[in-house]
Amino acid sequence: TLGEGGTFLHRCERLAQKFGLRDLYIKDETSNPTGSFIDRGTTVEISKIREQGRKSVCCGLTGNLAASLVAYAARAGLGCKVVLPQRVDIGKFYQTIAYETDIEIAKDSKDACWKAYRLSTQDYMGHFVMPYNLYFLEGEKTTAYEICEQLGWSLPDKIIVPMGSGGHLSMIWKGIKEFYEMGFLKQKTVEMVGTQSKGCPPIVEALQRGDDKIIPVNKISTIAIDICVEDPPCGSMAIQAIRESKGTAMPLLDREIIHAVSLLAKLEGIFAEPAAATTIAGLKRLVDEGRIDHSEKVVCVVTGMGLKYPEVTKNLIKGSKKLEKLLRLVEKRKYGIALGETKLRVLQIISRKESYGYEIWRALEDLGVKVKIPSVYQHLTELEDADLIIRSKSEQVLKKPERHYYKLTERGRVVLSRSEALEE
Ligand SMILES: Cc1ncc(COP(=O)(O)O)c(C=O)c1O
Repeated sequence: TLGEGGTFLHRCERLAQKFGLRDLYIKDETSNPTGSFIDRGTTVEISKIREQGRKSVCCGLTGNLAASLVAYAARAGLGCKVVLPQRVDIGKFYQTIAYETDIEIAKDSKDACWKAYRLSTQDYMGHFVMPYNLYFLEGEKTTAYEICEQLGWSLPDKIIVPMGSGGHLSMIWKGIKEFYEMGFLKQKTVEMVGTQSKGCPPIVEALQRGDDKIIPVNKISTIAIDICVEDPPCGSMAIQAIRESKGTAMPLLDREIIHAVSLLAKLEGIFAEPAAATTIAGLKRLVDEGRIDHSEKVVCVVTGMGLKYPEVTKNLIKGSKKLEKLLRLVEKRKYGIALGETKLRVLQIISRKESYGYEIWRALEDLGVKVKIPSVYQHLTELEDADLIIRSKSEQVLKKPERHYYKLTERGRVVLSRSEALEE
């Protein structure tokens, strides 16, 4: 274990007021050890693998499962191999490589899955982890157990859950039925509401067709990558859970999802990743369409944290000139700090004395850095764009082209001294 589960059931006052609801809760799964509900499944899967004496694990999936698996494998002292599709949320990617895992990159998720499967059966022989593995799924039931307990051994009227493979929603329903059978609950009346992205809604579409069979989606396009499962392996179970519980399912547009991320952050202080915020977008849709009674008790499961996909912030601050500018500056700071040899020397030359292009070129030559004059001007433009130098003055000398002198900015001074320290 890494201390997963036991997450907070957050009573929402401001969001409830906004939607005109009396009793709204968020099951805040962002506070799990690796930032998503997936840890609930991983802990059981990894424990069983250890019990069976296996030495390594292998998976071919994006995002939260990979990020969770590498952490739990590290904790358990198991080897771990991950095949990631090229399109992966950046936060999850950083999380995954932090454990110095053995990683391969594949073209897309199907390819990643096949590669991982082949590795697990041939060369690598690690236990193949998928979100439909039985032990993994059993771990996910605990979300339901906790909701019941946290609501005083009762159920809300609706539980809203994002659906990718469909596993989590199905297992929440299974957990409720088990608690009812064991006598912990007096009734099992709760509507299970599933949310998907409009860019990949195979479970919603099957429900709308009145079908049990999933027709895989061919083309996917959405901001909520982690719930993009073209052919969801637990889709039929999710359909059954929604039907049995007399619930519903909705496909949400990216713009609705981004709005939901923003509402959740601004009104409740919870920064969620887009896939997770679909439950808030779904709730808003139910309210707008008058499909929910204001006295109903609702639990939205917010499955993963916003840092997994920090770029979503760009969408949230659109229109705020001040924050957009700040973001640009910080991004430049972050990504522009690795200076090449020539730029470093240019900064050093300018730090000694305000200089212009030709003079800098001469000084570079003296330092043994051989570059053509146009490339000096290119470096100056790039350093200016990165906010490391600014023009201090311009001067017309006889019939020669105008000379532009440069000096370091405050940021330029900091970056230069850091780079020099690194050089040493
Ligand atoms: C943040 C997040 N929410 C929801 C889901 C969907 O869960 P499931 O695949 O069990 O339907 C995932 C799946 O990885 C996820 O990472």
